[in-house]
Amino acid sequence: MNHCWAILLAVVGFCYVSGQSSNGASPNFQCPPHQEINPCACNVKKNGLDIMCEFTDNFHISKAMTVLKGRTSVIVFYLKLRHNNLPKLQSFIFLGIDIRHLTIHNSSLAVVEESSLSSMGIGLTQLDLSQNNLGSVPSPALKNLHHLLILNLNHNKISVVHSKAFEGLDTLEILTLYENKITTIEDGAFKGLSKKLRRLNIGGNGLTAVPKAVGHLDNLRKLEMQENSISHISERDFEGLVKLDSLGLAHNHLRNVPPKAFSHLKELNSLELDGNSITFIDPEAFVGLEVSLQYLRLGDNNIHTIPSDALKRLHRLRHLDLRSNNISFIPEDAFTGFGDSITFLNLQKNNIKFLPAMGFDNLNSLETLNLQNNKLVHIPEEIMEPIVDTLRVVDIMDNPLICDCELRWYKDWLKNLKDKDDEMMQKKRTVCTMEHEHREYPVQSMPLDRMNCVGKNMERTSASSAPSLIASALIPPLIMLNCL
Ligand SMILES: *[C@@H]1O[C@H](CO)[C@@H](O)[C@H](O)[C@H]1NC(C)=O
Ligand SMILES: *[C@@H]1O[C@H](CO)[C@@H](O)[C@H](O)[C@H]1NC(C)=O
Repeated sequence: MNHCWAILLAVVGFCYVSGQSSNGASPNFQCPPHQEINPCACNVKKNGLDIMCEFTDNFHISKAMTVLKGRTSVIVFYLKLRHNNLPKLQSFIFLGIDIRHLTIHNSSLAVVEESSLSSMGIGLTQLDLSQNNLGSVPSPALKNLHHLLILNLNHNKISVVHSKAFEGLDTLEILTLYENKITTIEDGAFKGLSKKLRRLNIGGNGLTAVPKAVGHLDNLRKLEMQENSISHISERDFEGLVKLDSLGLAHNHLRNVPPKAFSHLKELNSLELDGNSITFIDPEAFVGLEVSLQYLRLGDNNIHTIPSDALKRLHRLRHLDLRSNNISFIPEDAFTGFGDSITFLNLQKNNIKFLPAMGFDNLNSLETLNLQNNKLVHIPEEIMEPIVDTLRVVDIMDNPLICDCELRWYKDWLKNLKDKDDEMMQKKRTVCTMEHEHREYPVQSMPLDRMNCVGKNMERTSASSAPSLIASALIPPLIMLNCL
């Protein structure tokens, strides 16, 4: 590995050096004298200069740029203009300066003149215009940036993304428009981006539907549309997104997940639907995701039952988050047919009163189980028995638990967590109520001697809690009890 890198770097280094020497100039990594570019600051970095101008204005920035223009073969690896008063980016302000990463952040920028950025086509790979006053995408100024990889327009005031807004940016891989005021994205808005664009963030806007324009981005891997007002999705919305790996629809206004909604997304690995108002998930909702989907977030919705019919086909599902719903009941066969692959199950903040004896029987790979903040009074020993060997994290805090012999599995399990991470140790605060004494006990110090528990193994044998087992995070098998 290291060897390969060394060779690669040597080759790259050679090409770079020979490329430079052929035109006679070697890169200039010397900062101009401080007083010449004041109030901007300059530092020398490995790949060029790092120049920062903050809390100043157009006059001082232009002056500093003029000084840089007078120095031959200077590479400005970073030019960061932040917290300035720069309402207009003037034509030719950067002409003749080789800038690779340009940031103009929180600087009241509203107008980007066409020829302000057009001279930067050769070197510029990252452009960050976040937190300004742009009311639209400054398309004419962007159209010659043929090497741009990342464009950040977050936190501006863009309301409409016009057709061909990014035309010319044929190398762009990442585009983020998070937290603008976008209500309309015209159908041809992303024209020219389909070959290279891998990530698109249009979250935090006012979209009410999935824009047709995203359907043409056949190389997109990650699409973020969280925090909009999308109330319906359908199969057609995602037709062209055959390479999509991750889809974010959290915090929208969805009320149901219709049949085959994601059927074109054959490579989808992660789906976020949390924070909607979902009450119904069609049994066919996840058709097409059988062998791809691993992460599914459905928390903060209004789901009343584990949507087993829809989940059943997800043979690779690892991470299932159903927190903060209105699930009150878990049927015995809730995880039949798809539970094998699940390693993480979050059911916290629901309304679960009762766990059926064999309910977790199929969760053979479960490592994390969160049942915090439910209405559980008992957690039957039988339900934990099939999973306690693989579990590394169990959270049963904030339930109205009664101290009974059934809970001994937890006490034993905790005892074997000694020396594990602090987060898990905090779970020691889990309490249960000792009914006839009208007081609470931490579960790990339940007064078993006064509880008349009858069991085969009242105390764990020393062999099963050997330090090596603890160190390797193996949990000894549950010791069966008979509580009569
Ligand atoms: C934005 O810049 C102004 C100066 O123009 C500064 O006072 C303010 O604190 C900055 N805001 C943030 C969030 O950095
Ligand atoms: C939760 O479900 C119960 C029925 O199980 C229902 O009575 C209650 O209204 C639901 N709560 C919400 C917030 O929908």
